Amino acid sequence: MIKVIDVTKTYGKGESLFTALYKVSTEIPAGASVAIIGKSGSGKSTLMHIMSGLDRPSDGEVIVNGKSLVGLKPKQVDAFRSSEMSFIFQAFFIEANQTCYQNVLLPLEIAKVGRRDRRKHVLEALRAVDLEDKVDSLAGNLSGGQKQRLAIARAIVNNPKLLFADEPTGNLDSATGDIIIDLLFKLNRERKITLVIVTHDLELAQKTDIQIYLKDGEIEKTVAKKRQHRTSPNSSKKVVRMV
Ligand SMILES: Nc1ncnc2c1ncn2[C@@H]1O[C@H](COP(=O)(O)OP(=O)(O)OP(=O)(O)O)[C@@H](O)[C@H]1O
Ligand SMILES: [Mg+2]
Repeated sequence: MIKVIDVTKTYGKGESLFTALYKVSTEIPAGASVAIIGKSGSGKSTLMHIMSGLDRPSDGEVIVNGKSLVGLKPKQVDAFRSSEMSFIFQAFFIEANQTCYQNVLLPLEIAKVGRRDRRKHVLEALRAVDLEDKVDSLAGNLSGGQKQRLAIARAIVNNPKLLFADEPTGNLDSATGDIIIDLLFKLNRERKITLVIVTHDLELAQKTDIQIYLKDGEIEKTVAKKRQHRTSPNSSKKVVRMV
């Protein structure tokens, strides 16, 4: 669960003070898929960075899985982030001169996962994104879609509870983008990873459980998909008509 309470973020000061977010409050339940939507400059990335502890609010509270990020020291935030969260960006940020194996291994090294288990975890993550056959290939030689799949493998190798993706398909053609999106939703469904996607793409946004529309640093509206309730065959008898 992510709780954002009355978050304001300003940049600069005096004449050049700019308010990127103003009193933003929202709640994201564990396991949900969420889209943050809005025009360029509306504050989408800023909100995602604040939700994930990459950036600090100027005012307000952010509570992730019961922990207040605002109250933590920067090193504690880093440790919390690497144990619970992962990130995927528009520019893939992979190490081009290293193999796929080495790229996916990196988070395990940072988290000091035991050496014996590392290979198994890396191969499993590469399998999840259908890149097992590229394990020893140089990352720089992959196609764009493969690079993003590699970035996803690296993001999931540590079994994160939260996955943040900022315009993950921005550098891809639409067919390849669709494959990446399907993969992200599959991870959300099957591994119950909370998925927060920043996007301009309304069609993609419609696929998520919750859509947060930002305008000029404020929440314009939040739309939550209604859950489909199963009803028993005679449940209609119980409906009380309000007159
Ligand atoms: N470090 C910074 N210093 C000053 N202003 C900043 C800084 N980072 C962001 N901003 C400003 O805050 C506003 C929101 O930026 P943000 O990156 O969150 O927008 P966005 O909705 O993600 O846009 P895009 O769709 O173009 O990525 C913008 O006007 C931006 O110029
Ligand atoms: Mg952005």
